[in-house]
Amino acid sequence: MTSSSTFVRVCGLSELEEDTPKRVELDGTPVSVVRTEGEVFAIHDICSHANVSLSEGEVEDCQIECWLHGSSFDLRTGKPSSLPATRPVPVYPVQIEGDDVLVSLTQES
Ligand code: FES
Repeated sequence: MTSSSTFVRVCGLSELEEDTPKRVELDGTPVSVVRTEGEVFAIHDICSHANVSLSEGEVEDCQIECWLHGSSFDLRTGKPSSLPATRPVPVYPVQIEGDDVLVSLTQES
């Protein structure tokens, strides 16, 4: 039986700068990996409002802000907290093993 949550190494923990999103690709899916507030989060790297890379936005208070129209998404849930985006962005589970950051494309919410 295959597991539905396969964790894949996307980068090293030491490669992640605090509050500086890093764009990676996992099976062709763009993912923004963010280290902030002592944790690492993985969120789909495309805004739900338009085809824009979230990893080019700013991180604050566990939210990532889309640089184009300013919607912020909660890194824990993917939910937008401000307009114009109304739909959530998928977030993915993260595991840390030593210096390895592992992400599974299984959605948490
Ligand atoms: S493209 Fe992200 S808020 Fe509009």
